[in-house]
Amino acid sequence: MLVAGILLGIVVSLYLLIAGYGMLSRVLAQRQIDRVLEDLLRARLRTALAEQADREQVCLHWNGVRKFQVDRKVDESHDTTSFYLRPHDGKPLPLFHAGQFLTFRLHVQGEQRPVVRCYSLSNVPDSETYRITVKRVNNGVASQFLHDCVQAGDLLDVMAPRGDFCIEPSHNRPTVLLAGGVGITPLLSMAYSLTSSGSAAETWLVYSVKTAPDFLLTDELQTLTEDNQNLHVRVGTSTPAEDGTETDFQGRISIDYLKRILASNNYEFYICGPPPMMKSLVADLREWGVPPTSIHTEAFGASSVQVVSAAMKKDAETDGRNSSDVTTGPAVKFAKSSKDGTWTDGTPNLLSFAESLDIEIDAGCRAGSCGSCVTAIRSGSVKYLETPGYECEDNTCLPCVAVPDGQLELDA
Ligand SMILES: Cc1cc2nc3c(=O)[nH]c(=O)nc-3n(C[C@H](O)[C@H](O)[C@H](O)COP(=O)(O)OP(=O)(O)OC[C@H]3O[C@@H](n4cnc5c(N)ncnc54)[C@H](O)[C@@H]3O)c2cc1C
Ligand code: FES
Repeated sequence: MLVAGILLGIVVSLYLLIAGYGMLSRVLAQRQIDRVLEDLLRARLRTALAEQADREQVCLHWNGVRKFQVDRKVDESHDTTSFYLRPHDGKPLPLFHAGQFLTFRLHVQGEQRPVVRCYSLSNVPDSETYRITVKRVNNGVASQFLHDCVQAGDLLDVMAPRGDFCIEPSHNRPTVLLAGGVGITPLLSMAYSLTSSGSAAETWLVYSVKTAPDFLLTDELQTLTEDNQNLHVRVGTSTPAEDGTETDFQGRISIDYLKRILASNNYEFYICGPPPMMKSLVADLREWGVPPTSIHTEAFGASSVQVVSAAMKKDAETDGRNSSDVTTGPAVKFAKSSKDGTWTDGTPNLLSFAESLDIEIDAGCRAGSCGSCVTAIRSGSVKYLETPGYECEDNTCLPCVAVPDGQLELDA
């Protein structure tokens, strides 16, 4: 009887143990499922919020021109001034990508048509204010107008931020920003963007100017290096600083200097500066083995586009492609002006070709960035020596950076 009782006790205990274990396993499994579902829901919520933010950003963008009021003007050096701009309608601004620029349609007295010019955004992407930093150019129509005639409170016609000379702070790739003169503007914005995003990417900003008084925004660079331990700033002047300003190197930024400060050539390079600097750096970086996909350049005008194209064209020749096959004499017609001509070797682009025939085509950046010169193609096609920053629709082209690819008729 006793034995039977003990056995029964053991059986009941075993049953309870197994039932308890089963229940515990089910509870644990359910918790696991709940956790997975919760993670899934959170991920969906994050994606939905990101999509909503993207949609809001798209809604904030504008087509054509928008009125901006000059909030304030700040002199940055003897020949360079920053303009802080706020939208006149008081509505929020889309966040721009660091490295992008604004296109202005300026109503300059004495000019028959609006003068279209591009200026890089030089501040941190911000939803309230845009900042551009403009260097006065001798006899320059737009820069002199901005410096001399535009005051705080004035309204300017501005097109939405554009350009693909941009940095993606989340990529975390080691990065080198190479700036010459006023070319610091998009690169400073990139340094701000990397710093404010908390990027862990090793970043070098190498900045050269002619003489020490030409340095721009160095106090901001100093603050950035204090806020971002991954950012290393090196500055240099072409001529020795007479006022005792200490610099890290002398002369232009050279490949030898870069080889001294960088651990390898395995970086993303972003370059903006005067044409000779861009030309030599692009060619030297290619020779150092940096792939073209890791060299990003911003041209501040037609001459810069041409020198960068020439440096890249060298690659095309090395790759076995013949650069001369893009400029051999097809007929080019301009339908609206009823003019035509034969393309000649050495003509830089279709915009210059049109101008040589006294045909007026609207132009701003002359660098394939702003879209001001978009022209419809009636027949034939064009080639680009450099992929333009502005994406145009089918059957249209950017004559400022295009050459004919065979016989061509443009609607101009
Ligand atoms: C994407 C992009 C971003 C830019 N960002 C900046 C920036 O952040 N800051 C900045 O300062 N600039 C920037 N620029 C350059 C800017 O757009 C202007 O090109 C610059 O301000 C000069 O314009 P301007 O109207 O004053 O000079 P222009 O009137 O265009 O003249 C430029 C030069 O050409 C000479 N010139 C003009 N016409 C003739 C002629 N018929 N014959 C001979 N010479 C002539 C002038 O004497 C002058 O030296 C940027 C350009 C681009 C494309
Ligand atoms: S003039 Fe700006 S894209 Fe041609």
